[in-house]
Amino acid sequence: MKQQLEAIRKMAEEAIQNAKDQSEIEALRVKYLGKKGELTAILKQMGSLSPEERPAMGQLVNLAKQAVENLIAEKQAKLKAMAQQEKLQKETIDITLPAKVKKTGKLHPLNTVLDDMINIFTSMGFDVVDGPEVETDHYNFECLNVPADHPARDMQDTFYLAENLLLRTQTSAAQIRTMENRKPPIRVICPGRVFRADEVDATHSPVFHQIEGLVVDKGITMCDLKGVLEEFAREIYGKDTAVKFRPSFFPFTEPSVEVDVTCSECGGKGCRVCKGSGWIEILGAGMVHPNVLRSCGIDPEEYSGFAFGIGLDRLTTTRYKISDIRLLFENDKRFLDQF
Ligand code: PHE
Repeated sequence: MKQQLEAIRKMAEEAIQNAKDQSEIEALRVKYLGKKGELTAILKQMGSLSPEERPAMGQLVNLAKQAVENLIAEKQAKLKAMAQQEKLQKETIDITLPAKVKKTGKLHPLNTVLDDMINIFTSMGFDVVDGPEVETDHYNFECLNVPADHPARDMQDTFYLAENLLLRTQTSAAQIRTMENRKPPIRVICPGRVFRADEVDATHSPVFHQIEGLVVDKGITMCDLKGVLEEFAREIYGKDTAVKFRPSFFPFTEPSVEVDVTCSECGGKGCRVCKGSGWIEILGAGMVHPNVLRSCGIDPEEYSGFAFGIGLDRLTTTRYKISDIRLLFENDKRFLDQF
């Protein structure tokens, strides 16, 4: 009986050792320790032993049962740990993998430059105002001292929508609307799209952008205009930038100037960008014509003012070295993704 017990124990030990999962272990537990299990069966044979032999044998059987139970518990713990390990391995996240880059939208280069301009002018005390893109002849020309038969109308080829309705050719129209609605002191800029029936080429587009500036107050002179534009040019192009006024003509300003700044590409030495001159033209400006002030109900004897109109597209193409203005309007993603 003792040998039989030993044999069973050995077999159980081996089987438990080789068990591969919990269900096999459970089957072995039933096989050896269950009600009809092999070790339980041995206990039932105790009846055939003499009363002297029984206690010792009983103890041996119990020890064997205990040993098998321990082995099962150990193996179960081992299997559980292995399963846990396997699960952890499967669920591992490789944090060294490069993350997927999420594509986010970004500002169009025109808007980036416009934001810079707005920051510069608002820091000097200017408000930003808006005007309609579809204008009347009255606001776009008449009040700006350009009557119907005036030759200056030829300077701006106009898209007419109806007899007196047009796509604004200049943001200057917003000057008039502002002066009608506000009393001096006035300090505003008006950025926006303007339209002209130009031939399309690398430097011309039928749609482009201007930023109109207007200041009206008592005692405003051309020095104020120069000071504001110098400050603006230094902020945009760097502190060594010089500003040059050249006499020009606009019907709504008198005197009128065209304004050049030191070429930011060559620092004034002369290069391809400035065509060797060292200067780049960036805007038109002048002192608001008395007729314009009058047409808005402002007394030119009491008030004076200056206005300027900056081309945003030119500023943008020179800043980013964009060779063709059309790129700004085609919205080719390959182009826009570079900014
Ligand atoms: N509106 C003018 C143009 O488009 C520019 C300008 C604005 C000139 C304000 C003087 C004063 O050419």
